[in-house]
Amino acid sequence: MQKYLQKALTNQFTRASIAHFGQSLKPPVRVAITGAAGQIGYSLIFRVASGEMLGPNQPIILHLIDLPFAMTALNGVAMEIQDCAFPLVQGIVATDNQTVGFKDVNYALLVGAKPRGPGMERGDLLKDNGKIFTETGKYINDHASRDIKVVVVGNPCNTNCLILANQIKDIPKENFTAMTRLDHNRAQYQLADKLGVHSSDIRKIAIFGNHSPTMVPYIDQMTAKNHKATVDQQWVTQTFIPSVQQRGAEIIKARKLSSAASAGNAAMNHITTWVNGTPEGDYTSMAIPSDGSYGVPKGLIFSFPVTVKNGKYSIVQGLPISPFYQGLLDKTIKELVDERNAVDHLLK
Ligand code: NAD
Ligand code: LMR
Repeated sequence: MQKYLQKALTNQFTRASIAHFGQSLKPPVRVAITGAAGQIGYSLIFRVASGEMLGPNQPIILHLIDLPFAMTALNGVAMEIQDCAFPLVQGIVATDNQTVGFKDVNYALLVGAKPRGPGMERGDLLKDNGKIFTETGKYINDHASRDIKVVVVGNPCNTNCLILANQIKDIPKENFTAMTRLDHNRAQYQLADKLGVHSSDIRKIAIFGNHSPTMVPYIDQMTAKNHKATVDQQWVTQTFIPSVQQRGAEIIKARKLSSAASAGNAAMNHITTWVNGTPEGDYTSMAIPSDGSYGVPKGLIFSFPVTVKNGKYSIVQGLPISPFYQGLLDKTIKELVDERNAVDHLLK
């Protein structure tokens, strides 16, 4: 049944795309999304399919991966993609088989994981999700394209990415990243709101550390409308930092579900920036393998300010770290070291 669905969809979309665009398109790339039957998936997949992530000239073969119990729902999602008649979609692989799911994949958005419920911290999820990412790492290593770019969204995303990357033997470690772009976007909005400007006017801010309540929203170099901007320190410590750190929990409290549309949006932003680069004079936040910068132990998957050019990211060096920020950095480093110690048995 699945084989049939995959073949039928591939034929239909290949025809549609050629008819619509002629020969001017790039060769198709394969984009895998795990947890594709889940709530982030439902918001993310359709935007990726529309070309929003990789641009209007980039045809896509979607690899939608979920667990066996979710296959009926996933086939429903596949039918809805058909019904959108997206010009850029050249095929859909909807599967619970990771060998098929990651075959020749160029981009992977790893959303599939057990989500956090009310009152839970990310650490609570380490055990269950650790197993998932060990397995997925093996499949990616064995079957994905050697140039694959991976963003881990499923929580606890930094340490899940560490577990995943540990399984990789033949693909550069820097191709494995985790998502803190949602936190970056959240910080951007809070600052814009405070300063009475638009989010897009806020530049040179970053998230350091873990995607957790210890994350460090760093704003000492912030500009608004290209001018150095400051906000009062009391607001920063008492309102801004806690509200960015706790925004995920606040949304869970309000929706009784974790953030989905904004998380999907950020995952797309992460890949788009990784492919297209950061604007001149700005940086973004990505959780990447530490090279020891800012005193962060090597190998931890740690969010840094990065610039991106030609598909390669570089950590922004030399940002001044005040004693206040150093205290916060120490805390988030410690939390990630503790998480790494807790999954030590999965890193052998
Ligand atoms: P959801 O429960 O709606 O969907 C998760 C989906 O993943 C389900 O369909 C489930 O069957 C599937 N799944 C579970 N294990 C899988 C596996 N091994 N392979 C493939 N699929 C698998 O959850 P959601 O709301 O979509 O959230 C997904 C994850 O994203 C959660 O871990 C959540 O905490 C995380 N999240 C991260 C951020 C971030 O900023 N990094 C933001 C929001 C949510
Ligand atoms: C978020 O930041 O919205 C997510 O990570 C959800 C969560 O589990 O906090």
